Amino acid sequence: MDSPRTIRFDIFRFDPQDPQDSPKMVTYEVTEAPGMTVFIALNMLREQQDPSLQFDFVCRAGICGSCAMVINGKPTLACRTLTANYPEGKITLMPLPGFELIGDLSVNTGKFMRELAERLQLWLQPNADVVNIHGLETPMDPEEAAKLYELERCVECGVCVSACATKQMRDTFVGAVGMMKIARFEMDSRDARSADDFYHVIGNQDGVFGCMTLLGCQDTCPKDLPHMQQIAYLRRKMAQTIPDSNRII
Ligand code: SF4
Ligand code: FES
Repeated sequence: MDSPRTIRFDIFRFDPQDPQDSPKMVTYEVTEAPGMTVFIALNMLREQQDPSLQFDFVCRAGICGSCAMVINGKPTLACRTLTANYPEGKITLMPLPGFELIGDLSVNTGKFMRELAERLQLWLQPNADVVNIHGLETPMDPEEAAKLYELERCVECGVCVSACATKQMRDTFVGAVGMMKIARFEMDSRDARSADDFYHVIGNQDGVFGCMTLLGCQDTCPKDLPHMQQIAYLRRKMAQTIPDSNRII
C-alpha cells in the first residue's frame, strides 16, 4: 500500500486587531488521510500545530456557509473540498475578498448579509389588508412554492460575492445574492411589493443593469443556484418597468 501523501498548505495569516502584525503567508504540512477535506486538514492543523489559526465552520456539511474561503484561487467551501482534488499536493488558502477580515481565513459575511437585507428589505411584506394571524394558512400553488424553495437554498456563504468582478470594482453593487433574494420576493404572490417598488431598489447600475454577465457567481455557487436565469428574469421585469422619465427614447 502507498504511504500517505504530505500536503503543503500555504495559508494567509493576519490579525487586523494587532497593530504589530502584518499580512503574510505561512506554510504548514499535513499528512493526508482518505476522504480528507480542506476543513478536516485545517482542524488537524489547529489541533496539532497552531491553535491560533482562525477559520470558521459550523455544520461541516455544506449547509451553514461558514467555511467559505479561496482555495487555490477559487472561492468555495472548505468542508466540501477534498484534498485529493489537488494531485500536486499544494494548497493555498486565502480569506474571501470583499468582506471585513476578522483574522486569517475568517471574514464577517454575517455583517455583509445583514446590511444587504436591511438595504434591500429582504423580508416578506404582505398586504396589510390580508394579514390575519388567527386565520387558516392559505395554501400556496405547488409550482410557485417549488420556485421559492429553489431560491431559498442559498446558504449565504458569500462565495458569489467574492467571485464577482463587478462587486470587487463597485462596492455598492448588490451582487448575485442580493438579486436572487429580490427575485425570491418578486415571485412570491404574498408579497405586496410591485415591480415598480423593486425597480427603485435594483433598477440601476448597483442592481440588474450593473451586472456584466461574467458568470463568476454561477460558476462558483456551491448550491448550484441559477443566478444568471434569475438576473435575466429581473432584468426583463425591470426593463418593462422603467418609468417614462428615465427612458432615453
Ligand atoms: S447564492 Fe450561492 S454562492 Fe451566493 S451566497 Fe448563496 S449559496 Fe453562496
Ligand atoms: S462548515 Fe458549514 S458549509 Fe462548511
